[in-house]
Amino acid sequence: MGTILETERLVLREFVLSDADALALVLSDPETMKYYPALIDRDGIQQWIERNLRRYAEDGVGLWAMMLKAAGEMIGDCGIIRQHVEAEYLYEIGYHLRRDLWGQGLATEAAIACREWGFANLKVDRLISLIRPENVQSGRVAERNGMTIWKEVDWRGLRHYLYVVKREPAPKLLAQGY
Ligand SMILES: CC(C)(COP(=O)(O)OP(=O)(O)OC[C@H]1O[C@@H](n2cnc3c(N)ncnc32)[C@H](O)[C@@H]1OP(=O)(O)O)[C@@H](O)C(=O)NCCC(=O)NCCS
Repeated sequence: MGTILETERLVLREFVLSDADALALVLSDPETMKYYPALIDRDGIQQWIERNLRRYAEDGVGLWAMMLKAAGEMIGDCGIIRQHVEAEYLYEIGYHLRRDLWGQGLATEAAIACREWGFANLKVDRLISLIRPENVQSGRVAERNGMTIWKEVDWRGLRHYLYVVKREPAPKLLAQGY
């Protein structure tokens, strides 16, 4: 069912509308949404899923459902969103995880897989993450995903660090004759 990629502990697949209950446990949690302007209510969850279904169709990417293989459960989202930042289109890796599962490296595992998927499947030379300076946990995930802070930006009215990771240069081929 719309599987995008698989890691040791996780599967990322496209969202379906019936994910709403499980997603509400993530995006309607006040602690998880601490750095966002507002919690997402039930209608908002539905719209959130629909927005990502549109992204899959229009951009070929979006936030994907994070499935914990061992439990067969949907536990959050991680994926790639096409964002308009400071007059250019950039592809952002984003993630939200159910709170009882924090601190096990799951978001890092998903984010690294999205970076590898992005560089393999998109014609981009860099991938970004937009993170509030106070969101230390998310910043740590970005760092372990190979990202560094590129600059500070005003994003939707709030100060954010714009993290970036560049595509690894292709290994130089030896010139013929060597
Ligand atoms: C950000 C988030 C996805 C991280 O998920 P996770 O699976 O717990 O992440 P990991 O276990 O891979 O790594 C978390 C890191 O934060 C650290 N951390 C955990 N709790 C922390 C806290 N309260 N304060 C500071 N750092 C913390 C962990 O120690 C780990 O870093 P380390 O490996 O260097 O020790 C999760 O916390 C979350 O859903 N947050 C709310 C949503 C959000 O802010 N998303 C990002 C928007 S930009």
